[in-house]
Amino acid sequence: MTMMNKQVRLASRPDGLPTDSNWSFDEGPAPEPGEGEVLVKVSHISLDPAMRAWMNEGATYIEDVKVGDVMRANAVGEVIASNTPKLEVGAQVQGVLGVQQYAVAKPKELLVVDAALAPVQSYLGILGWPGMTAYFGLLDIGKAKEGDTVVISGAAGAVGSVTGQIAKLKGCRVVGIAGGPDKCKYLVEELGFDGAIDYKNENIRNRLGELCPKRVDVFFDNVGGEILDAVLSKVAMHARIVISGAISQYNNPRFRGPNNYMALLTYRARMEGFVVFDYAARCGEAAAEIAKWMSEGKLKNKEHIVKGIESFPSAFLKLFSGEKLGKLILEV
Ligand SMILES: NC(=O)c1ccc[n+]([C@@H]2O[C@H](COP(=O)([O-])OP(=O)(O)OC[C@H]3O[C@@H](n4cnc5c(N)ncnc54)[C@H](OP(=O)(O)O)[C@@H]3O)[C@@H](O)[C@H]2O)c1
Repeated sequence: MTMMNKQVRLASRPDGLPTDSNWSFDEGPAPEPGEGEVLVKVSHISLDPAMRAWMNEGATYIEDVKVGDVMRANAVGEVIASNTPKLEVGAQVQGVLGVQQYAVAKPKELLVVDAALAPVQSYLGILGWPGMTAYFGLLDIGKAKEGDTVVISGAAGAVGSVTGQIAKLKGCRVVGIAGGPDKCKYLVEELGFDGAIDYKNENIRNRLGELCPKRVDVFFDNVGGEILDAVLSKVAMHARIVISGAISQYNNPRFRGPNNYMALLTYRARMEGFVVFDYAARCGEAAAEIAKWMSEGKLKNKEHIVKGIESFPSAFLKLFSGEKLGKLILEV
C-alpha cells in the first residue's frame, strides 16, 4: 500500500502575522530513500519563533524558505526504511525534516536520540535547541554566576523557562517577565523563580525596581522592543544583556530597535547576540547536564502539544498570541 505524505508548504510571504493564505497543503506518495539515505516517519514537529523569520525574503543566519517549498522545521521521528548501514530501521532521530509526515535524509543530517532517556519530543525542547539556547546563552554569553540578579523575558516559554531554572540552580536571583497572571504564578510557584512580572498588566519599570533592588546583572532577552528598553533602564554596572531573540518584533514590518542603548555606556554594560548552532560541538556536554538535573528532579519540563498536521497554521500562531505554556510541539 502506498504511504501518503501530507505536507505544509509556504504559499506566499506574510505581511505581519501569518494567515491561512500563506500556507498550502499538499498530499502525495511518501518519498523513496535513495542510496545512502533513510526514510523517516515524522512523529513530532517543533514550532519555533525563528520559523517566522525564515518566511521572509532574504537570508538571516540561515537561508529563507522559498515560496512553494515545504516549510522548514526541526522534527523527530522513526527511521522506517534504510539504504545505509549507518542507520538502522527503528532508530529515533532528530533533524530538519520539515512540516510533513515523511522525510528522506542522509545519516549525517540526523542525530540519533535516546528514547529510553526521555520522550522523543523532549529533543525538540529541553534536550534540544531551546534547552541548548538557554544553557549557552545564560552561562557562556551571559556569564551568570552565584549572587547575580537575572531577568528573563519570554520567561514561561521553551527557552525562558529553562533559562530561569538553570539560573536558580546556579544560585542567582531570578525574575521572569511573561504575559498574564497564570504564567507569572507558574514561574514563581512551580519553577521557583524569585519573582515574575506580568508585562500585559503591570508596569515593568516599577516592578523591576521592586523585584531587583540591586538592579539587573544579566538580562536574557527573548522579546526585544519595549521590554528590552524597560530592562535597559535598570541594568547594573557591567551587566550582560543576552540577545536570544526579539519575538515582539518578528511580525513587525518596521523592526524596532532599542532606544535606551546609552545605558550600556553609563553602566559599562555589554549586549551580545548569539546563534545556538555555533555551540553544536558542545551540545553533548549541555544535554548531559540538563538530563542529570531532570533525573534529579531539579529541572521541570513543560510541553504544549497540538495534534494533527492540519493544525499547523493555527498552532504556529500560538507562539505569538502566547496561548501555550512551555515548548510548543505539533504531534503528527
Ligand atoms: N539565539 C538563538 O540561537 C535562539 C535559538 C532558539 C530560540 N531563540 C529565540 O528565543 C525566543 C524564545 O523562543 P521559544 O522557542 O522559547 O518560544 P516561546 O518562548 O516558547 O514562545 C514564544 C513566547 O513569546 C511570548 N511573546 C510572543 N509575542 C510577544 C510579544 N509581542 N511581547 C512579549 N512576549 C511575546 C509569548 O509568551 P507570553 O504569553 O509571555 O507573551 C510566547 O509564548 C525567541 O525570540 C526565539 O527567536 C533564539
